[in-house]
Amino acid sequence: MDKVKIFLDEDEIPKKWYNINPDLPKPLSPPIDPKTREPVNPEVLMALFAKELVKQEVSTERFIDIPEEVREIYRLWRPSPLFRALNLEKELKTPARIYYKYEGVSPPGSHKPNTAVAQAYYNMKEGIERIATETGAGQWGSALAFGCQQMGLECQVYMVKISYDQKPFRALMMQAYGAGIVPSPSQQTEFGRKILEANPDSPGSLGIAISEAIEDAVTHDNTKYALGSVLNHVLLHQTVIGQETIKQFELIDDYPDVICGCIGGGSSFSGISWPFYYHKITGKAPKDTKIIAIEPTACPSVTKGKYMYDHGDTARMTPLLKMHTLGHEFVPAPIHAGGLRYHGMAPQVCLMADQGKIETRAYNQIDVFEAASLFVKTEGIIPAPEPSHAIKAAIDEALKCKETGEKKTILFLLCGHGHFDLAAFDAYYSRKLQPYEYPAEEVEKSMHKLKEIYPWIEDLPY
Ligand SMILES: Cc1ncc(COP(=O)(O)O)c(C=O)c1O
Repeated sequence: MDKVKIFLDEDEIPKKWYNINPDLPKPLSPPIDPKTREPVNPEVLMALFAKELVKQEVSTERFIDIPEEVREIYRLWRPSPLFRALNLEKELKTPARIYYKYEGVSPPGSHKPNTAVAQAYYNMKEGIERIATETGAGQWGSALAFGCQQMGLECQVYMVKISYDQKPFRALMMQAYGAGIVPSPSQQTEFGRKILEANPDSPGSLGIAISEAIEDAVTHDNTKYALGSVLNHVLLHQTVIGQETIKQFELIDDYPDVICGCIGGGSSFSGISWPFYYHKITGKAPKDTKIIAIEPTACPSVTKGKYMYDHGDTARMTPLLKMHTLGHEFVPAPIHAGGLRYHGMAPQVCLMADQGKIETRAYNQIDVFEAASLFVKTEGIIPAPEPSHAIKAAIDEALKCKETGEKKTILFLLCGHGHFDLAAFDAYYSRKLQPYEYPAEEVEKSMHKLKEIYPWIEDLPY
């Protein structure tokens, strides 16, 4: 009989994280300081982040040891299960085999604590007492609040206002984990006050919340900033996901032909797919696996954005990063996948897309929720709106197999549950969702503005 759940023992939690930097198809363009137009010295970043995290950010070591204290906390939910979606396969009448790796089993309910626990650990080790951060959907904020509580640190979260209003229970969860939380833009920072003065009804954005959290970190004693995605140290912490999945497939003697993951900043997608990519380039993979990254049409950073240097935040406090971007002033439509509303993307993911090593795709939220509701009906788990983009892609791939008769193995990452997203399902069932498409002209306008601010931006030699 086919197995529905494939488990590993606790002692099979990976002992190392995988860093893709030495294996990228081309060296990564460095972060640039717009004042000097030169690469940023990593030491400057140490004012903002724990030192060890900055070292990991620029590390060229392929494997980095996971501290025992971090593995000990990982044991609360890792190794996470790999499921076979037999009921979904039956419903679709597809010859394909569909599997999903489920990260919703973590205490806060997503993949985010894989990095939150590690980041809180290194900050604690370096004597930091407090961490400030932003959160979009609330998943990252609750994960960091959990990580900080485990490590005995204070945590301050700036939550994008529209998500704060849409998901009050996420905010309550962060409080239960002992964190302080305010809707962003807030009155707590100079930047937040400036935004509110210009637009008291601002729904906020991740770019604004990042600016507020950075300002908080640099204006408070013994406080550092933490980011839940985009940066390399975050991506590499997530690779425990893919490493476990490879072992789980070994147990059932199968291997994915296709991997689907959603991208907001790119961390969960990197977590599931980089270990498979490493398997491929080292000749260990039995198949030439296709890797697909999926984003919303309302925030099409990679599929419609430009691959060029831009800031990671709205107030232009971060260095310039070479990435696909919709422009740092992007304010997203109020779609329910709050974690996928970021204007940029992890530079590693962008480079892999630019070099044709991964495919990218965008779906509108109505199609995404249609796929999610089919998943609820067949598999029973209520998925978060973000990974529902991956569900939609997996279903599309399975339907292609139905047409061609191919018995492909399809894997997707279900990186979080949607227990706090039921209002989104309600909006879908009552036909209130809009199929937003971000217009290409808006991207052009933002790029024009960026070039006005930095006329030299396209001449950088990277
Ligand atoms: C459940 C969930 N999935 C995905 C994302 C997107 O982030 P990333 O692309 O870094 O995984 C988020 C971000 O908040 C999230 O909460």
